[in-house]
Amino acid sequence: MVLFFKKEQNLESSTKRALMTTPPPTIRREDYRPPAFLVDSVELHLSLHPAATRVRARLALRRNPAAGPGDTLELDGEELRLISAALDGVALPPERLAHRGDGGLRIHGVPAAFTLETEVEIDPDANSELSGLYRSGGNYVTQCEAEGFRRITYFPDRPDVMARYTTTIEAGREDCPVLLSNGNPDGAGELPEGRHWVRWVDPHPKPSYLFAVMAGDLVALRDRFTTASGREVALAIWVRRGDEDACGHAMDSLKRAMRWDEETYGLEYDLDVFNIAAVSDFNMGAMENKGLNIFNTKYILARPETATDADYEGIETVVAHEYFHNWTGNRVTCRDWFQLSLKEGLTVFRDQHFSEDMGSAAVKRLANVRRLRAAQFPEDAGPMAHPVRPDSYVEINNFYTPTVYQKGAELVRMMRRLIGAEAFRRGMDLYIARHDNQAVTIEDFVAAMQDAAGRDLSRFARWYAQAGTPELRVEEAYDPAARRYTLTLSQAIPPTPGQPEKLPVPIPVAFGLLAPDGAELPGAGLLLLEEARQDIVFENVPAKPTPSLLRGYSAPVRLTGLSLEQLGFLAAHDTDPFVRWDSAQQYRVAEMLRLVGEFRARRPLALPEGVAAIAAAQLGHALEDPAFAAESLPLPSEDFVADQMATADPEAIHAVRRFLRQALGARFAARFAGLHDALAEAGPYRIDGAAIGRRALRNAALHYLAAGDAAEGERRARAQFDAAGNMTDQLAALRVLAHGSGPARQEALARFHARWKAEPLVLDKWFAIQAMAERDTVLAEVQALADHPDFDLRNPNRVRALVGAFAMGNPSAFHHASGEGYRFLASVVLALDAVNTQMAARIVSPLTDWKRQDAARGAMMRAELERILARPGLSKGTYEKVSKGLGH
Ligand code: TRP
Ligand code: ZN
Repeated sequence: MVLFFKKEQNLESSTKRALMTTPPPTIRREDYRPPAFLVDSVELHLSLHPAATRVRARLALRRNPAAGPGDTLELDGEELRLISAALDGVALPPERLAHRGDGGLRIHGVPAAFTLETEVEIDPDANSELSGLYRSGGNYVTQCEAEGFRRITYFPDRPDVMARYTTTIEAGREDCPVLLSNGNPDGAGELPEGRHWVRWVDPHPKPSYLFAVMAGDLVALRDRFTTASGREVALAIWVRRGDEDACGHAMDSLKRAMRWDEETYGLEYDLDVFNIAAVSDFNMGAMENKGLNIFNTKYILARPETATDADYEGIETVVAHEYFHNWTGNRVTCRDWFQLSLKEGLTVFRDQHFSEDMGSAAVKRLANVRRLRAAQFPEDAGPMAHPVRPDSYVEINNFYTPTVYQKGAELVRMMRRLIGAEAFRRGMDLYIARHDNQAVTIEDFVAAMQDAAGRDLSRFARWYAQAGTPELRVEEAYDPAARRYTLTLSQAIPPTPGQPEKLPVPIPVAFGLLAPDGAELPGAGLLLLEEARQDIVFENVPAKPTPSLLRGYSAPVRLTGLSLEQLGFLAAHDTDPFVRWDSAQQYRVAEMLRLVGEFRARRPLALPEGVAAIAAAQLGHALEDPAFAAESLPLPSEDFVADQMATADPEAIHAVRRFLRQALGARFAARFAGLHDALAEAGPYRIDGAAIGRRALRNAALHYLAAGDAAEGERRARAQFDAAGNMTDQLAALRVLAHGSGPARQEALARFHARWKAEPLVLDKWFAIQAMAERDTVLAEVQALADHPDFDLRNPNRVRALVGAFAMGNPSAFHHASGEGYRFLASVVLALDAVNTQMAARIVSPLTDWKRQDAARGAMMRAELERILARPGLSKGTYEKVSKGLGH
C-alpha cells in the first residue's frame, strides 16, 4: 500500500509531538485554577498570505481578581513564529520572554493591567492538522475548538477567558473577495497592490475557541429572518461558486431552528448577521463560532441527485445543533474542557428535540437510540470509557465522544423527564439568567434545574461522574390469590478504568402493564429506581401482566430479565413504539446469539419461527407507518450482537446475520417484491417525512429481496440504479449491486464513478459502499482503493469514507482471522499521524477493542497497537488512545 502525501511532512516540526522519553502530561479536573489574567478586548489584524500570514494582536489584559496575586502571564502558542512583542507600547527584549517547551510564552513581572501587542507569522498552506488557520480548496478557514486559537496567535487559550474581539482581515481582492469573521461587519476598504480589508466587531464577549475567519472566493445564498422581538437578521450561507443552488435545505433548516428556539425556549438570535460557511476539509461536522458557523460541506450541500435522505436529515440536525449553541455554548460557555458536555450534551438534546418536533418523533427517537447503542455503549464498555464529565485527559480532542455528546444528551432528557417539561423550561430560563456571559460548570446547570424544580438532584449528579452503562434487571412475582403483582427492579454498573466500584443512580423507568390479551392496564406512569434494588407492588391485578419498561427509552441503560416470550408479546402488542421496536430487536438478538452457538457447533441453521413471526407482523403493518417499518425490519447490526457477547465471534455473527436475512428474504419474497413495487416513486420527488419513510421501506425491501433471491435482487437493483432520479434510490441499488460478484457490480461502480467524479461528497459514497461490501475480497479492494488517485489522506471525509467505513462498518472484514484488517488500519494510522493527528487518534479506535475478541485476534490487535506506539514522535492524541487501548 502506498499512501501519497502532497508534501513531505517533517515529523519534528509537526505539532503536539510527544517526546516518548517522557509521556505527555495528564490534565486533571481537580487541578483547575482560575486564570491569573483576564483579557477584556482583543484587536486582531490578519494579513493573509498562503505560506506566510501575519497576525498582529493587541490584548487588553488585567489581573483576575478571582485568582491569587501573581505577575506572570502565561500565553499558549503552537507553531507560531514570533516577530515582535511589546508591553504598553514598549518592545519586550528576548530575555523577558520565556519560551515554554509546549510552544507557549511566559512573561514575568507584568503589571496589574496592561496592553500586550504581538506579531507572529504562520503558514496556512503547511497546516494539514485543520486546526488553527488553514487552507481548503484555495480558501482560508479557521478551526479553533478546542485549542486551535493558539495556532493563530499567543493567547491564554482556555474557555474561561472571555473577551470582546475586533478583527480586521486583509487579503488580495482577486483571490479573496469575501472576508468573514465573528460579529457584525464594521467597515471595509481598498489597499495598494490589489489588496483590501474588512473589519468585524463582535459585541459579545467570547472564549477564544469561538473565534473564526473564512476568506476566499465564495458566493452566498441569502435570506432574512425577523426575530420575535423584531430584530432583522441577514442570513447567508457561503459556498464555492457553483454550489449556491445546493444550500436551500440548509437555509430552510436554519430558519426553522431559529423559530423553534424562540417558541420552545424564548431564545432569540443576538446579532444583525448570521453567516454559515462550508468547506470540504473539516475534521468534524461543523463548528458553532459566534455569528460565523463553519461547516463541513457534507452538512450543507444537498441536491436530490447527489444527497440521500439521510444527508438531508443530517443537514437539518447539524444546522440546528450549531445554531442552538449560540445560547447553549456561546452566551453561556464552559469553564474548562471537562465541562464539554455542558454545551454538547445539552445542545444534542436540543437538536434531537427539534428534529422530533419537525418529523415523526417516535422514528427519530429509534434512530437516535440505535446510534447511542452502536457507538456509546461499546465506548462505555471499552478501554476509553469515561464519565460524561471526565476527570482527566491527555488530549482534549479525544473527548469529543459519543459519551460526552449522546450520553450527555440522554442525561438532559432524563432530567427533563424527572422534573417535567415545565420545570425544565424554568430551569433553562434560570440557567441563562444566572450565567449569561459566564463560563460555568455542569454543577451550575444541574443546580439551576434543581432550584427551578424544587427537587434534590444531588444523586442525579452521579450520572455525570460515573462511567459505564447501568444494567437494569427486572424480576417479577405474581400472586393470583392476592391478585398482587410485584416488580423487582435492580441496577448494577460495571467497573470501568479507574472506577472499580459504583453507586446506584436514579433511573426513571417509564412503564405500563399489559393484560394477557394485550390491553393496557390502568396506572401506567413513571417509576424511579433510586436504590440498588426496589420492589414495586401492584394490587388488584386480575392476571399476570407483562411489564412494558423504559417506554420512549426513558434511561440509557441495558434492560435484562424479560423472557423471549415476553419480548415477542411486547413486540406485537405494546402501545409504546419504542418498546415495540426494541422488544423485536432484543428478541432477534437473543435468537441470533443462540444461532451463533449453533454455527460454532457446526450444526445447521434454521430460521426461528419467532423471528419469522416478527417479520410477518412488521410486514403486515408496514404500509401504515413506512418509516417505522423501515427502522424495524432490518436485523440488529453485527456490532450490536457483538456488544452482547463476552467474547465476540465476528465470523459467526456475520454468518448468522447473513443466513437470517437470506432466509427471511426467501420466506417473504413475495411480500418484499410487493412492497418494492407498491412504493415505487410516483409524482415529484419530496423530502418530507412521509416520502423519506416510503423510500426507506422500499429500499429495505430491496435489500431483503436481494438476500433471498440474488438474481431477482440484481435485476431490480439494476433497473432502480438506471431509473433513479435521486441519490437515496441510486445508492440503495448500488449497495445491492456492490455486494454481488457478477459484471453488474463492476459496471455499476464504474458508471457511478464516471458520473460523479466531480462531486466529492458523492465520491465519498462510492468509496464507503465498497469499503462496507460483504465480499470475501473486500480487504484487497480497500487496500487498492487507498492507492486510488481519488483517495486523499488529507481530506477527512475521504478518510472516513474509506478507512472509517471499513474499520467501523464492516466488522467481519476488519476482524478477518488473517489480521490483515488490523495491519491495514495501523498503517493508515501511522501515515495519518504525520498529517492530521486528530484524525489519526479518531480512526484508531476499532483497534483498541481487543478485549472483546478471541485470544488470537486480541494478540494481533495488540501487536498493531504496539507497532503504532513504537513510532518515534507519535502525537499525544494517538499516544493517549493507543496506550489506554493497551491498558497502560
Ligand atoms: N463544537 C463542535 C460541535 O458542534 C465540534 C467540533 C467541530 C470540534 N470541530 C471540531 C471539536 C474540531 C474538536 C475539534 O459539536
Ligand atoms: Zn456541538
